[in-house]
Amino acid sequence: MLNKPAQSTKKLMDWYAVHKRDLPFRGIDNPYFTWVSEIMLQQTQVDTAVPYFNRFIKRFSTVCALANADQAEVLKYWEGLGYYRRAKHLHESAQRICHEMDGVFPSDLKTIESLKGVGRYIARAIHSIAFNQPSAAVDGNVLRVISRLTGFDQDVMKPKNARIIEDTVNTMIPHATPRDFTQALMELGATVCQKKPNCAVCPLQSECVAFRDNRQAELPVVVKNTKKTEKSFHVFVVKYADKVLLVKRPEVGLLANLYTFPQFEGQFDAAKNAFENSFNARVINHAHAFNIDHLFSHQVWHLSVHLIECADYAGLDLVSLTNFPYAIAKAHLNIIDQLKEI
Ligand code: ADE
Ligand code: SF4
Repeated sequence: MLNKPAQSTKKLMDWYAVHKRDLPFRGIDNPYFTWVSEIMLQQTQVDTAVPYFNRFIKRFSTVCALANADQAEVLKYWEGLGYYRRAKHLHESAQRICHEMDGVFPSDLKTIESLKGVGRYIARAIHSIAFNQPSAAVDGNVLRVISRLTGFDQDVMKPKNARIIEDTVNTMIPHATPRDFTQALMELGATVCQKKPNCAVCPLQSECVAFRDNRQAELPVVVKNTKKTEKSFHVFVVKYADKVLLVKRPEVGLLANLYTFPQFEGQFDAAKNAFENSFNARVINHAHAFNIDHLFSHQVWHLSVHLIECADYAGLDLVSLTNFPYAIAKAHLNIIDQLKEI
């Protein structure tokens, strides 16, 4: 464990009381809402997540409302947030809570952590925020703040080092208000001790080792060794009148059950042949429109987007994008955005 920063907890709590942002998932005594918000916030910035959160809990206002919805509708409410597996796991876990736990969100840490899609961090975030229990929730924000505050210079991507940070946070939790403490630490990381920190306004400045030694830029130490798999696809945008051709992805694998434009790997001619064979269509004209990359956690897609004209559209199941009832993968929503500009 690292040296416990002696005065930090009180200073942090005083700062939070004054500076906390007014967010829709704050100050609500509802573990289901805390769960939904933490799942959204795990890979999404607060500003982006807030409108999604509001729409989501309005439509799925209880865990059973979510459990009883169709997966397609749940995905539609997630459309654009990316990392769709989060929505699928949320839905599956809601079914478990609704049907096996009488619709009551579990309060015990082990049970919370057993929910699909809930890892070490989210389980502890829910346990502390929703149930006011002294569990240290260590996300990227917290790794950054504590590494800098204590001058911790080991690779925080290693679980054993993340555990050292977690142990340190555990010693800092005020037992009366774990709920506020967890959010205060995240809030400091999200608004002050960002990648480029604003130490001038930080309540922990006088105890911060990184500030004292001017090592903010070196900490936290994050060793990335995940080489992403690179894939290249040709994407075919078939537009006729105000409709386009979309296809549903398979039920398993990346972007499962989501809609995209047809896309094929390989050389252009092979991709075009594959397109013609799959849709029983004949391409009479094509124009390259633009290239766009899309980053997933373990993959990069290099997408070469083409506008396609076919000999005949009768056999193609074209859809209007306005009010399309299913979720389109973010990688392809980005394409739709770019198409509007050309
Ligand atoms: N990031 C993840 N959870 C958060 C929370 N509860 N408040 C602010 N930022 C967060
Ligand atoms: Fe982060 Fe700067 Fe505050 Fe240290 S003083 S915790 S580096 S914002």
